[in-house]
Parts: sequence; C-alpha cells; structure tokens
Amino acid sequence: MKTPVAEHLISGDLTPSLKPLSIGGLEVGFPVTLGALAGYSDLPYRLLCRSLGAPYCVTEAMLDRQVLAQGRLKKRLVATDPSDHPVGGQIMGHEPEVMAQAAAALDAMGFDVVDLNFACPVRKVVSRGRGGALMKEPEAALTIVRAVIEAVPHKPVTLKLRRAFHEDGRTAEDFWRIARGAFEAGASALSVHARTVERKYSGRADWGFLAALKREFPDRTILGSGDVMKPADALRMIEETGVDGVLAARGAIGNPWFFRQARDLAAGREPYLPPLDEQREMIERHYGLLCEFYGQGRGFKKIVHTCLQYAKLHPRRTDLRNALVAAKTEERWRAVLDAFYAF
Ligand SMILES: Cc1cc2nc3c(=O)[nH]c(=O)nc-3n(C[C@H](O)[C@H](O)[C@H](O)COP(=O)(O)O)c2cc1C
Repeated sequence: MKTPVAEHLISGDLTPSLKPLSIGGLEVGFPVTLGALAGYSDLPYRLLCRSLGAPYCVTEAMLDRQVLAQGRLKKRLVATDPSDHPVGGQIMGHEPEVMAQAAAALDAMGFDVVDLNFACPVRKVVSRGRGGALMKEPEAALTIVRAVIEAVPHKPVTLKLRRAFHEDGRTAEDFWRIARGAFEAGASALSVHARTVERKYSGRADWGFLAALKREFPDRTILGSGDVMKPADALRMIEETGVDGVLAARGAIGNPWFFRQARDLAAGREPYLPPLDEQREMIERHYGLLCEFYGQGRGFKKIVHTCLQYAKLHPRRTDLRNALVAAKTEERWRAVLDAFYAF
C-alpha cells in the first residue's frame, strides 16, 4: 500500500518549547500523534495521516483473541506497512496469559509498541471485564501489565487509561495504583483520556487531571487525550498540562491535515488549509486505499461515512452532509462530490 510522504512535512518543525517525544527507547519526534480510533485508525488512514506528518499512530483496539486467531478480520486488524512506523498495536482483554500471547504476537509482527487498552467504555466490552472495566480493578490490570511486559521485554509497553472509572470519585485512587504499579513494572508511557469511563465521550475532558498526573510523574512519559478537536488544542494541551505528547482523536477524523496544521502552528506558520480540489483528491485517495484494503463494497460504505467527517473542512458543511446522507449509490455519491468539490 503506497502513499507518497511529503518529506518537508516531517522534518524539523519543533519550537524550543516543544520537546521531541520518545516512548521507551523509541524516538517519535513531533509530539502530536494519531490515537487509537475504532473504525478509523486502520492502515489506510494511518498512511494518509503519516503522509501529512503524523509521527506515530496506534491501531484501533483489537481483542487479544482476535490477534491470535487466523482469518481475514485478524489480517486487516494487524496489517501494517513498511511506511507505517513507528506504530503501536493496541490490545484489549482480561486474561493475563492471553494478553501476553497477543503482545508477543504483535511483537513478532513488527509492531513498535504494545498498547494496553484499559479505557474502552463500550458496554459490551466493560461488562466482560475488558477495556475500561480494568480502571476499577487495579490488581487485575497490573497482573496484565506485568505479564505483557514479561512477554515483550524489549518492546515499549504503554497503557491507555481513563482518569477513573466512576464520575463520583469513589474509584479515583485506582487510577494512581495502576499508574504507579505500571511504571514500577516497566511500562514506558501512559496515554490518558481525561474523562471517566462512565462519562464515555460527553462533558469536558479534565485537563487539570493531566497536569496533576505530569506533576506526579515529571520524569515519565505521559500522552494526553480528550477534547483535542483542533491542532491548536494539541499544542495548548502540551503547554497547559506539561504532557509529553498528545493523541489526536475525533479532531483528526476526516482531517488528515491535522498533523501538518499542528506542525505549522508549532513552527509559527499559519495552519495549512487544503483547498477544495485537494480535499477532493484526498477523498479519492482514501477511497482507493479503502477499496484496496477492504474490497469495493465495504470500501464504499466506509468512504461515504468518512466523507461526513471530511465535510467539516468544507465551507458548506451542513448542505454537503445532507447531500451525502441522501446519496445511496456510488454514482450519486460522485455527483455530490462533483457538485461540492468542483474544481
Ligand atoms: C470513534 C472512536 C473510536 C475510538 N476507538 C478507540 C480505540 O479503539 N482505542 C482507544 O484507546 N481509544 C479509542 N477512542 C478514544 C480516543 O482515542 C480518544 O481517547 C478520545 O476520543 C478522546 O479524545 P477526543 O476528545 O480528542 O476525541 C475512540 C474514540 C472515538 C470517537
């Protein structure tokens, strides 16, 4: 899978106030990265983001058993590419041995980092003791962390956490048990979404929590997540909280230029705004990669869905979204693109 990388975008661009990010022994560089996004941070999108300056990307959360299974689903989930590095493979599960085996499998496949998901708030996941459920089970979480680190002693192991499970503070201390225990066990970094599991995606992320976390662990690597909707938010998060890196998530869906824009801002330039013809070209390129990766039928469904997100860069976003929702065939979809992205 090929995407040309614009070299000028991935050089330099660090102001003195922005320190290069590293995770364990892995040098990432520019500290604004693409976070894990189920349904979005697949190989095609990671490649597009990298071509526009994303220095590090994480796969979507994969069940440990999926990573160990055979078949097409697993192949797509774990697919990487020589130009898709450094890349973190994120796994989710509740059995330490299975998580350890999945981590070893990711290591063998060439993933640069193993990221453990203790953050997912989806009910089906939490009710099975996975993802965010581990935020209130610090001992179980740490048993997984230790087993995984033992299985991949030479690879950075990172954790994706929420700031707590419950909103009312009754399990707040569990976060600190997990954080301390994970670093003592040899974890390389914590990525923290500054909302509780209960909150899912609503309300404001608590950046004050990220600042407190960084104060508690000044010499450890912390990546912050939550409400990074615009590239300027990523730089502001670093400045206001002191985190070492940022995970762009919803803000980067449908905006692969996010990373170029963040680099522009960091270098004191106006953030690049892609003209409509370039937006259209990007959509076509994305569609081509999705078809290559998933086949034409699924590729089409995915691009139509993702176009609703690309629309946020369009001056007539509401009209465009309405037109996209009404376009059920590829022919109609193309007609909508022709009408809205005329060049
Ligand atoms: C559609 C979607 C899918 C997500 N999938 C994952 C995932 O697979 N693994 C994970 O750790 N976080 C996942 N997240 C959480 C994001 O990585 C991020 O932590 C969260 O959205 C907060 O950042 P934001 O407010 O800037 O979007 C997902 C978020 C969204 C919106």
